[in-house]
Amino acid sequence: MAKLGVNIDHVATVRQARRTNEPDPVWAAALAELGGADAITVHLREDRRHIQDRDLELLKRTVTVKLNLELSCSSEVVDIACQVLPDQVTLVPERREEVTTEGGLDLLAQRQVATRAIQRLRAAGIEISLFLDPDLDQIAAAADLGAHAVELHTGQYALAPAGDPRDAQLCTLANAAAAVRHAGLTLHAGHGLTYRNVQPVAAIEGLCELNIGHSIVSRALMVGFQAAVREMKQLIDR
Ligand code: PXP
Repeated sequence: MAKLGVNIDHVATVRQARRTNEPDPVWAAALAELGGADAITVHLREDRRHIQDRDLELLKRTVTVKLNLELSCSSEVVDIACQVLPDQVTLVPERREEVTTEGGLDLLAQRQVATRAIQRLRAAGIEISLFLDPDLDQIAAAADLGAHAVELHTGQYALAPAGDPRDAQLCTLANAAAAVRHAGLTLHAGHGLTYRNVQPVAAIEGLCELNIGHSIVSRALMVGFQAAVREMKQLIDR
């Protein structure tokens, strides 16, 4: 059965909307653990738009499951990973203008930068996962570069309309998944997965880890909203 990594970036996004101290992603990590999360995932973006260095430091001290840090290959954030020592780093491409990670790493075009980041993280003893589109050439390159795992980008599957287009994307993911396993790499997947579309991906043979953020944080808001309003109303009425 695949493990669940819960991405808590959006909790920090809400906090950063006011530059205040709530909601705290460190609390969210603890609650995610109580809910059964097998890993906590955060993305320390170069522009620090959500997760802050302080969050990462506290998460390193408090998370008792696996801590998975998403990072670009830039030396500034790789330095931080080498100091903080999360259990795993997932290398992702990063563009300032993007709303979220848009595609997988291009290991063919950016081999040198990726190699440098992988070598440094490996030397620090950190497990390395590479976020890749379900593309066989990229997967072959990941094996050459000495990664431990590949996280297949499920975004195209998630965006495809139900029926033939989505089935075709699932087939592409399953073929890529087989290539990851045959290359001797651990298989992860994530991006855009929801309560409605997760199950066919979770059923892919050999899948070890799913990373899911947006849908879980969205659901948490909805299931918690009524209680939060009720508590405020009680305070006002008292
Ligand atoms: N995996 C990676 C590599 C990501 O960059 C993200 C988004 O931060 C996710 C998984 C989670 O995606 P979502 O928030 O759409 O569930």
